[in-house]
Amino acid sequence: MKTPRKTLLMMSLLLSMPLFAGIEGDAERGRTAAAVCAACHQADGSGMHIPGGESWPRLAAMDAGYMYRQLVDFREGRRTNASMMPFAAMLTDQQLKDVSVYYSQLPATPGQGGKDAAADLLKLGQRLVEQGDWERYIVPCGSCHGPASQGAGSNFPGIAGQHAGYIERQLLDWKQGKRDNDPQHLMLAIAERMTEQDIRAVAAWLSTLPAQ
Ligand code: HEC
Ligand code: HEC
Repeated sequence: MKTPRKTLLMMSLLLSMPLFAGIEGDAERGRTAAAVCAACHQADGSGMHIPGGESWPRLAAMDAGYMYRQLVDFREGRRTNASMMPFAAMLTDQQLKDVSVYYSQLPATPGQGGKDAAADLLKLGQRLVEQGDWERYIVPCGSCHGPASQGAGSNFPGIAGQHAGYIERQLLDWKQGKRDNDPQHLMLAIAERMTEQDIRAVAAWLSTLPAQ
C-alpha cells in the first residue's frame, strides 16, 4: 500500500506533466472522421486564406496534442468560434484524437496571404518575429514557438507557414479579449502590446515562411 506521502509526490508529478503530451489516436480512423472537416480545412488539410472573410487554418503537419487540446477547448466552450464549435461537438473524444493524429501526419502545405503584402510591411513583420521589440516588451516569436517559429511540442504551435488571415484573426481575438484559452495568458500579454499594424505585419511575414 502507498503511504500518503508517496501518493502526494505522485500527484504533484502528474500535475507538473503537460496535459495532453502523447495522445493515442489512429490515423486511418481519423481520415474517415475528417470527411466532415474537408469543407473548410480541405481534403489535404491545407485550409484557406480568405481575404476579408474568415480564414480556415492549415491543420496538415500541426502537432497532434495541440490540435486535440484546441478541439476539446472548442467542445467545452473555452475557445469560441461559431464555425468550429459544432464540429468539435459532433465527434467522440476518441475521434477527436484520431483526426488530430491524422492531420498531424499530412505533409505541410504553403501559407497563403502574405506574398503580395507591401515590402515595408513584410520588413516590419520580419523584425518583430525575429527580434521582437524590447522597448515594448514584445518577445521574439521563436523564443516560445521554437526555432524559425515552426513549433515546439504540444504547447507551442508552429505559426510559420500558417495563413495570414488566420494568424491576424487570432492575434486580434487575444487583443480584444475574445480568445483566452492559452496557458498563463502568454499570448494575450503579447497581443495586447501589438498595434493592428504590427499584427498585420507579423501575420503577412509568417505566412511566407516554410512550416517545416
Ligand atoms: C465551417 C468550417 C469549418 C469546418 C467544417 C471545420 N472547421 Fe476547424 N476551424 C474552422 C475555423 C474558422 C477555425 C478557426 C477558429 C478561430 O478563429 O478560433 C478552425 C480551427 C480549427 C482548429 C484549431 C487550429 C489551431 O491551429 O488552433 C482545429 C484543430 C480544427 N479547426 C479542426 C477541425 C476538425 C477536426 C474538423 C472536423 C471535425 C473541423 N475543424 C471542421 C472552420 C471549420
Ligand atoms: C511567451 C511565449 C510566447 C511568445 C513569445 C509568443 N507566443 Fe504565440 N503562443 C504561445 C502559446 C502558449 C500559444 C498556444 C495557445 C493555446 O494553447 O491556446 C500560442 C499561440 C499562438 C497563435 C495561435 C496558433 C494556432 O494555431 O492556434 C498565434 C497566431 C501566435 N501564438 C502568434 C505569435 C506571434 C506572432 C508571436 C511573436 C510576435 C508569438 N506568438 C509569441 C506562446 C507564445
